[in-house]
Amino acid sequence: MKKTNYIVLVLILIITACKKEVKEKKQLQEMNKISESAKRVRDYVKKDIIIAHRGSTFLTPEETEPAYRWARNIGADYLELDIQLTKDNQLVAFHDDDLKRTTNIKEIFPDRIDATINDFTLIELRQLDAGAWFNEANPEQAKESFKNLKILTLQDVIMIAEGNKIKRENGKPVKALINDTWNGNYKHEKDPNDNGNRPGIYVETKHPKSNIEKYLKEELTLLGWNINENPKQIKIQENKVNIADTNARLILQSFSPESIINLENHLPNIPKCFLLWKADMKGDFKETYAKAIDFAIANNAHIIGTSIAGEPNNYEELTSDWMAELIHESELLIHPYSFDTNEQFMEYSKRIDGVFTNRADLALEFYGRKKIISKDVLINLGY
Ligand code: G3P
Ligand code: CA
Repeated sequence: MKKTNYIVLVLILIITACKKEVKEKKQLQEMNKISESAKRVRDYVKKDIIIAHRGSTFLTPEETEPAYRWARNIGADYLELDIQLTKDNQLVAFHDDDLKRTTNIKEIFPDRIDATINDFTLIELRQLDAGAWFNEANPEQAKESFKNLKILTLQDVIMIAEGNKIKRENGKPVKALINDTWNGNYKHEKDPNDNGNRPGIYVETKHPKSNIEKYLKEELTLLGWNINENPKQIKIQENKVNIADTNARLILQSFSPESIINLENHLPNIPKCFLLWKADMKGDFKETYAKAIDFAIANNAHIIGTSIAGEPNNYEELTSDWMAELIHESELLIHPYSFDTNEQFMEYSKRIDGVFTNRADLALEFYGRKKIISKDVLINLGY
């Protein structure tokens, strides 16, 4: 082929590819937008929020007391937790379906190691050590005081957000008895090392078991965190995180479309995030992506939670420029997961509205809010 013919051919191919991209984008741009009432709820949520993913998976055993006390004291805007329902219908903060990765189930219930968390009562779960595994998996971050940590309830996490901790006597958690009976709950006390931050909570319904949303609504209402039903007033201080005393003290999230619908039925007027995961998105990718956004709009969600690519998680890219553009064109917010490095903050920060991060310390510094030595915060908390 002559050189000029070759150049013309290449140009034609480039122009065709560009036209296709423009056409596809144009099709996708003709998308729905969220309703006026959804905008009102969306606007409860502050911009550039720092969401402490499971407290922190980097510095502490995930979803345990040190993880959330650290996240609160360091100044994260939200404590992120995954919610599961126990056999006796209590709500616990726990990520996995089963207990193998992050507890000593092998030692305590050797014949039930494959059972799912829903097969255990709260009293049984409180017998497990949810911290020692971390020391083995992360020797550089290991601490003696991470041993014998408890799986937490939703109530425990809310108590931490409000400046408390589990009450201990002689190092042991104090049981909260009702009519001389213990149902697995502990008492709480004011955290002597609380520094006054009052973050919100960002709650994910995990692998929804039937009716988890109903129990979630009941518990949140009881604890004064359902803004629809007589929410409690939470004391805040100037120059501290104060999300716990706003209409966005609670944000709800789920990968499950069914759960997003159920959450809206039980807990309307509360910001909701529809989480996306590439493996769930079958068929033409751009169409499926647009459909997911449409689902969120149709069901009164306010935020899309997308994965980011790259180390260390190596998730699929669901937060590229065009994807963030589509989400914003629909007037939704975008909160991607999960940030572990400065490079990730630099790459994505301009096109997003908040971050799920295991490094709330790095995020605070990146956004110019605070420079802090994160390990000192743990030491000050007694770990
Ligand atoms: O909730 C956002 C992010 O936490 C989703 O991923 O698996 O860590 O719950 P995962
Ligand atoms: Ca989560």
